[in-house]
Amino acid sequence: MKIIREPHEMQQTALTLRDKAIRIGLVPTMGAFHDGHVSLMRRAKQENDVCVVSLFVNPLQFNDPSDFERYPRDEAADLEIARTVGVDILFMPSAAAMYPPDAQTFVEVTRVSQPLCGRHRPGHFRGVATVVAKLLMITLPRRVYFGLKDYQQCRVVAQMARDLYFPPDLVFCPTVREADGLAMSSRNARLSPEERRAAVVLPRSLELAQELFAAGETNPAVIRERVHGQLMTEPLAEVEYVEVVDAQTLEPITEITQPALVAIAAHFGRTRLIDSVVLTPP
Ligand code: PAJ
Repeated sequence: MKIIREPHEMQQTALTLRDKAIRIGLVPTMGAFHDGHVSLMRRAKQENDVCVVSLFVNPLQFNDPSDFERYPRDEAADLEIARTVGVDILFMPSAAAMYPPDAQTFVEVTRVSQPLCGRHRPGHFRGVATVVAKLLMITLPRRVYFGLKDYQQCRVVAQMARDLYFPPDLVFCPTVREADGLAMSSRNARLSPEERRAAVVLPRSLELAQELFAAGETNPAVIRERVHGQLMTEPLAEVEYVEVVDAQTLEPITEITQPALVAIAAHFGRTRLIDSVVLTPP
């Protein structure tokens, strides 16, 4: 596995590969790898000639500086996992290289960045869109892989790629979960044992949404209230939002006649977790 830290060196490498018609599959990450990341890496490896993984804890997408400081980092373990999976190139740029002091260009995706997490994390999706745009221009992939665990991020990136005519195919991959249903996340490492046990209320409440929908409930307000009620049964969960919105536009709906997203965010102590499920009418 080759480790590249300089953006220009990464781009030169990508250009050389492209000249030889060697297709790159890119997996953008912030490290602290778990099986969710690994599932994307395996898929990128399978579907392309070369698998590039970027590892960059992007300061621009952290609206809260202390969250950035506390974000889990484990470079040694990450290198080991990436090697084992067979990643070809690990691109690990510095913040100074990605955001030189004279940088003046940022990418803002408007409507789809605004609701849900956008409302609670101002500037977050501007940071995500900007870094993903840069990573795509630096690594020149044929395909780029994202996890549906971060559903709104997928929608923001898809809108950006469409608006700016970005060439790579975007591949959105299913959420990988722990045995008890909790969505894997680098942030799970920050939970105390009690908080970890409590966090299972997230997938449980989404299962409730699926059950209600399967039983014929198509009123988003009813589903939202029931999910909220389920989350409230867990004293360690501090609910940030529960929303049932159009899965494409993320805008409010009055009835589920098209695929709908049930999205939740909650704090367990100092750790903020998100999860979501799409309800698709038959
Ligand atoms: P990070 O949280 O490290 O996630 C990297 C990729 O792994 C994202 O596409 C995310 O959706 C996916 N992922 C995380 N948990 C997953 C799970 N349980 N199952 C499947 N996929 C999962 O998301 C980011 O980093 C950053 O915002 C980034 C896109 C790298 C831009 O900085």
